[in-house]
Amino acid sequence: MAKLKVGILISGRGSNMAALIEAAKEADYPAEIALVVSNVADAPGLAIARREGVPTVVISHRGQPDRETFDRAVSAELERHGVSLVVLAGFLRIFSPWFPTRWADRLINIHPSLLPCFKGLHVQQQALDAGVRLSGCTVHFVIPDLDAGPIIAQAAVPVLADDTAETLSARILRQEHRLYPLVVRWFAEGRIGLAAGRVAIKGVRPDAALLFSPAP
Ligand code: GRF
Repeated sequence: MAKLKVGILISGRGSNMAALIEAAKEADYPAEIALVVSNVADAPGLAIARREGVPTVVISHRGQPDRETFDRAVSAELERHGVSLVVLAGFLRIFSPWFPTRWADRLINIHPSLLPCFKGLHVQQQALDAGVRLSGCTVHFVIPDLDAGPIIAQAAVPVLADDTAETLSARILRQEHRLYPLVVRWFAEGRIGLAAGRVAIKGVRPDAALLFSPAP
């Protein structure tokens, strides 16, 4: 069966992108990474993608008259590469409403908190300041409102007493690298349904595991 063509948008390190490229190497993985787009010419993730033989393109947001012009240029590249799912992986540009509308239900993001808690930036510091015992990551559909689209899947990690933003961030990132390839797989397998703003995932067993922090 033809594999789902995925386009990944990055601005920096690209560790989630790398996890997806790695997952897509498996023969039975139902998606392939057709294109990586960066708005930053020297994003470290670009070098990883090139080394892995994934097509890359840089589209700078600088010098563009407005957000929508940039968004349309990105979209045109994705279309040119036959992309059916757009995956944001540390992409640090805010879209005009045009882009999420054009890619509605085919545009996902990963955010390093358990949404709807802690939107925006400095997310781990927000979690530490709030004193939460659990944090984690969320994969969600993207809508024009920031960090607000329908939630697809989450992974939780404990927040430890001596955590800093860096240690918490690293613990969450390890789960991001597990969760994102899983969600892309489910999407490619046609398991992810969206109705009335809520997501249902078909054929995935409800997990009985419970996570407590601290452990009882
Ligand atoms: C990740 O923490 C992700 O949740 C957030 O941006 C970071 C990107 O990291 N959206 P990387 O570029 O994938 O390493």
